[in-house]
This record gives sequence, C-alpha cells and structure tokens, in this order.
Amino acid sequence: MPDTPSPTIHPAWLPSSAFRALGSRRVRIDAAGPLADTVRAEVSRACSLFGGALVTPEAPADLILTTAPATAPAAPATAPAASATAPAATLAASSAALPGSAAALPGSAAALPGSAAALPGSAAVPAVPAFASGSGEGYRLGRRGAATVVTADGPAGLLYGMFEVVRRGEAAFDPALPGERHEPAFGLRVLDHWDNVDVHPVMGQVERGYAGGSLFWRDGRLRDDLTRVGEYARLLAASGVNAVTVNNVNVHAGETHLLTDRLGEVAAIASTLRPYAIRVHLAVNFAAPVILGDLPTADPLDERVRRWWSDTTDRVFATIPDFGGYLVKADSEGQPGPFTYGRTHADGAGMLAAALAPHGAPVRWRAFVYNHHQDWRDRSTDRARAAHDHFAPLDGRFADNVILQVKHGPMDFQTREPVSPVLFAMPRTRLALELQVTQEYTGQQRHLCYLPPMWSGILGFRATGDNAPTLAAMLSGAPGSPAAAGSPAAPGSPAAPGLPAAAGSPVVQQQPAAAGPSAAASGAGLGGAASGRTSGGGVLSAVSNVGDDPFWTGHPLAQANLYAVGRLAWRPDRDPTEILDEWITLTFSDAPDRLRRTLHTLMDDSWQTYEQYTAPLGVGFMVRPGHHYGPDVDGYEYTPWGTYHFADRDGVGVDRTVATGTGFTAQYPAPWSDRYESRDTCPDELLLFFHHVPYTHVLRSGVTVIQHIYDTRFAGARRVAEMRSQWREMADLVDPAVHARVTERLAEQLRSAEEWRDQVNTYFYRKSGIPDAKGRPIH
Ligand code: GCU
Repeated sequence: MPDTPSPTIHPAWLPSSAFRALGSRRVRIDAAGPLADTVRAEVSRACSLFGGALVTPEAPADLILTTAPATAPAAPATAPAASATAPAATLAASSAALPGSAAALPGSAAALPGSAAALPGSAAVPAVPAFASGSGEGYRLGRRGAATVVTADGPAGLLYGMFEVVRRGEAAFDPALPGERHEPAFGLRVLDHWDNVDVHPVMGQVERGYAGGSLFWRDGRLRDDLTRVGEYARLLAASGVNAVTVNNVNVHAGETHLLTDRLGEVAAIASTLRPYAIRVHLAVNFAAPVILGDLPTADPLDERVRRWWSDTTDRVFATIPDFGGYLVKADSEGQPGPFTYGRTHADGAGMLAAALAPHGAPVRWRAFVYNHHQDWRDRSTDRARAAHDHFAPLDGRFADNVILQVKHGPMDFQTREPVSPVLFAMPRTRLALELQVTQEYTGQQRHLCYLPPMWSGILGFRATGDNAPTLAAMLSGAPGSPAAAGSPAAPGSPAAPGLPAAAGSPVVQQQPAAAGPSAAASGAGLGGAASGRTSGGGVLSAVSNVGDDPFWTGHPLAQANLYAVGRLAWRPDRDPTEILDEWITLTFSDAPDRLRRTLHTLMDDSWQTYEQYTAPLGVGFMVRPGHHYGPDVDGYEYTPWGTYHFADRDGVGVDRTVATGTGFTAQYPAPWSDRYESRDTCPDELLLFFHHVPYTHVLRSGVTVIQHIYDTRFAGARRVAEMRSQWREMADLVDPAVHARVTERLAEQLRSAEEWRDQVNTYFYRKSGIPDAKGRPIH
C-alpha cells in the first residue's frame, strides 16, 4: 500500500517565520562541502521568503558563515541593511537550492533520493569517528565590523551556528552582540526510536509510542516517501541532536534483518539524515549470528561468532561509511544475551566493540537488566538494585568503545526516582545517561508534562556533595571524570571527590547542572575554550516521542520535550524555563506576551502537577499493567515485575535501607547513602521509594503522609482544571488546529487526573481508615 502523505505537517520549532531575521539579511557563506550546501539551501530559502540574499565574497554582508577564521575584509560598517530588493551581488543559488521550494532543502526526497546509488562512499560522509570529541561541531558567534560572524570548527559547526542565528532572531544582528564560543557538552546526542518494522501485535508500530506510526517504517517495510524523515533531520539539527537509532531495542524478527539483507533500508534513512549531520545507529539482536548467520551459537567468546560480527560490521560500514554504532538490550525482558552462554555482559559488549573498533564506532550496551520473573512474595529481591548488582562488579572490564547506557533511575522511567547509583559506581567505564522523552509513565502525551525540570535535576545531581561535579560534568567529560581523557579513567580513580550538601532529589536541585567550577560562565557551551577542554566525549541518549502524527508528538506541546533534549545535551546547565521560552519564541513566532505567559503557566510546573495526582512520594507505578496509562493502584502489586508499593493498613513504601530493607541505599556514595538511609534526611518526594512508613509519619514538610496524599491529589486535579480554562482563553492567539488538539488533550487529562485522584485517595482511605482532615469527598 503506498504511503498517504499527511496533508498538513506542523512545522514545530522551524516555521518559516522563525527565519525572518536571517532571511532578510545579506548572507555570505565561506565554506564548501555537503553540510555547507545544506546551510546554503536553508539560507537561500529563508532569503527567498524575506528578501535577503546570499552574497559573493566581495559584497557587503550582514552575516558571514565560515568554517575558518575569515580573512576577507568585513563588510563596511556603513553598508546599508539588506532590503526586499535583492542586492546586486547575489549569488546564484548554486546546485544546492531552488529558493523557496520545499524540494530545495537537502532533506527533501527530491534532493536526497533514498536510492542505494546515492549512498555509500558519498562525499558527504564525515571522516570523524561517531563518538569522538572535537568533531567540528563547535562555533564562535560574534561581530566583526558591521557583520555577525559564525566561525565554525567544521562543517557541522556551520550548521549549528546557522541555527543559533535563527534562534536569536534580530538579536543575532545586534551591534553589541558579545563574542561567544559554543560547543556541545555531550559528543553523542542520540534519540533512540523504539520503532518496530512490523506492527507488533501488542506494542504496535512504535513501542510506547503515543504519536501515531513510525516515521521510518510502515507495515513491515521502509516508507516509500522519506520526505518527513528529512524534515525530522532538520528539526533535530536545529535542536542540536546528532544521531538517531532507527529501531526498537526489542529487536524482533524483521528488525534483526536490518543488519544484513535489509541494510539498504537503513542506508536510505542514513542518506536522508546525513545532510543535517545526523548519523544512524541500529539496535541489534544479540542472537543475530544464530538467526542470520546459521551458526549454532551466539557465544561471544566463540571465534566463529566473533568473526561473523566482525564481517557483518565491515559490510555495514562498506554500505554506510558514517554509520553511528550499535545499541543492545541483552538479557533483559526476554531479549537474548551473554548469560545464555555463561558469559558476562563485558564479554558480550566486548565482542561487538571489537567488531566496531576498526571503524571508530561505539556499542551502546544497556544496563537495564533485571529479573522480570520475580516472586512478589520474595521481599529480598529488589529490582532497583539489579543494574548495579549486575554491572558495578564489571567496572574496568569493558572495552574502550563500549558505552554502558543507564536509565536515569534505578527502576524504569518513573515520574520520580532517585538518580541511578550505577552512574556513580563505574569510574573506569564510559557511561551514557538514558532519558525517556516518550511519556510512557508521564501521561503518554495525552497529559501535558514538560519534562526538562526533571532532566535538569538529574543532570545537575551531585552525588558526592555540593562541590563535587554534577552528573552532567562527570558524563560529558569534565576533567578527572571518566569521559574526560577520551578513555576510561585510571583504575581506582574516584568517580567524584568532595563532600555532601546538595539536595538528593531531582526536584529540589535547581542549580546549574554544568561542569561545576569549570563551567564557562560566559554563555559558552560546556567544554568551551574558557573551561580549557574540548568538546565533550560523553553520550546523552533519549527515547524519542515522535511519530507520524501531524504534530509530530501527538500533544503539540510535547514538542517542547523533544526540543529540550538537544538543547540540554549542548548545555546541561540551561534553565528549563529558558529553554521553554526559546521553544515558544521559535514555535509561536509572533507570540504575544499573553500567550507566552500562559504557556509558561501551563508548562513550567506541569511535571510536578502530574506527580501530584499520580503515585505519591516516589513510590512509582500504580499504573494499569500492560499499557501503563491511568491509575490501577494494585495493578502491579502481585505480578512478577518487581514493582511494588507494599501498602497495608499501617503504611506504605519500599524499605530499601541497609538496616531493615533490601540494602539498596548502600549502592550510593556518601553522603547520599546515609541521607537516603534515614527517614529524617531522605527528601520527602523520594520517601516511599526508600522507606516503608506509617501513614501518620510526619514529612519534613510538616504534613502526615496520608494527608499529603489527599492534599496533593486534590491540588493536582484542581490545577489541571485551571489549566484547561487558561488554555481556553488562548483560542484567539493560536492556530485553530493546535488549539483544538491541545483542548482535546486537556479534557482527557482532566478526566484522567480526577480518576487518579479518586482512586488513589479512596485506596489509601480504605487501607488506612484515616479520613481527610479537610473533609473532601473520598469514596
Ligand atoms: C520499559 C518499557 C518497555 C521497554 C523497556 C526498555 O519496561 O515498558 O516497553 O522495552 O522499558 O527500556 O527496554
């Protein structure tokens, strides 16, 4: 069946109007090559819309985009600004573009046919290893004479610098613009798509996808028309992302073949993403040598198996020379892995690392390994402990190009979890942080939930004290941290020195998440020249929330979550409110203050609002098993999944202490091991994650646990009702299609929030017999 293109696709944060300032200028591009062509096509289109022009080197320019320190004289300060009448020295649009037409952009199907002929060995392939630092992504933005100048380290930096000019709008041309250096904190900024090739009977086309079908796959094969993938690449580049994994970590039959006989489909995606400096990664099946190679085993120490991976990987790179790397979910939730052969995860990852090493690419190996056949009667097994129990003893045994990818919390992307202790336990291993943009447990893009405040708290968490490096600094390569030197730190080197003081929960931690004392204060990116180090070699990954929905993310305002991932990967210390403001400026280009203020009112604290009406105080889950939407307090209580709250007539929560519980608190370094161990010092919002307490236990806020449960559930649902009214007021300021979609989502959010409120409150009233002190209706 041919694809039926969606009639109107929302432009997200790149509406034409966002290009007004750039497009009304005289722009000179002193660079050549495929990415420079992409920049030229973008500028050319913008100029065709707003009256500016690409100009020759001799002509005066308002904006110069260059990959080397420019030597040509700057435009005279007296040069008149560009007007709608094109300047005399306008460059022909060259081969890159036919200004104004969508087909002119490099990501479009017209410019980049997905044909195999266009792919291998094309001149567009960058020569830099996929995860190497210093890969030309940085740039300097400043003024020279009457011109704004972007001086990029390399071709990708030119692209990022151009989008920085777009983001700044008129401010980019302010004669007082200060000189700034920008560089990404994380070298690899990757979105993992949990997209299935075949429609899975339970999980559908996109596992945990809430935005329609896959951008890549449809009913078992690659989409005919990849235009939308090209548009996606543009959006990602404009937010700072540089890699995409094109298939689900649960690698089913169809996806297993992407590695070999269906590699051409991956290559077609790669060639569509390449003009925007985005590399393709593939989730691979550990059992592939058996399934695809007819070998009797997938034992990672078997020579035949190692050779198979090595030969197969060589073929992947022969087809896609800038291939990004592998992602592996092994021995987890039914996926095959090294345990079958009595081997360790270091053995398994090492085999793939050896196959990838000659190509300078990494394998991302997921740490999400736990027993999903647990007996709920067994109180000694604690799923939260699993990743640390499995992986910490292997520290130092992973190959150089293995990146252990760790979910941000020890459980599973809950609304509130402590930061995973694995991230502080393996100083001799490269570690990646895995976030979940798709809102599996945070309202499934029916609820408005702006997640960056959570992420920012995670990135800013200082495991060993106020003066210690933040998690972002540790992962992105601050001096002394594992990622810093481009190779794992020396054996025995501490993860982070220092003494305790910071708050222990993502919410409380609002300070900048950057490289602590060494973060550049000038507005330059983490790792900028001012901090004395080069671009970060670390990895930030996130599970994508995108589908083929006309709004990309189902809920139009969930686009802000996607946008923020890339922005935080460049600057983890950015204030989430500031990022939201930037997104509003781009997306609602001419947003009046009333709309801007309302969007902030609706979104800034929406994560905390969601938390208020769902599972309380970090206990997690309480969702309907299977699809994970809506309340079901005991839904997981007697299942094998290890996700329990242990509510009884006296109290609730999981005892994870060393003294009387599972001992999980000991997986943290001091001071957090001690703080989490004691009810008195454990942050309120994580109390039930770490402790089983009586309902009458008084929180640090001064309120009892049971009263807190009632109060916050009522407050949360009430807040959603207010949000709905506030949005209604925006009807005259927003595109009717966007307004209608958000209105529909808020109606469902309110229905669901009231259901959550009533089920959670009623459940705990019936368990405890303690009435609400304020006498509100509980059923
Ligand atoms: C969660 C999610 C699964 C997913 C898994 C993973 O358990 O519900 O759908 O496969 O995480 O991260 O691998």
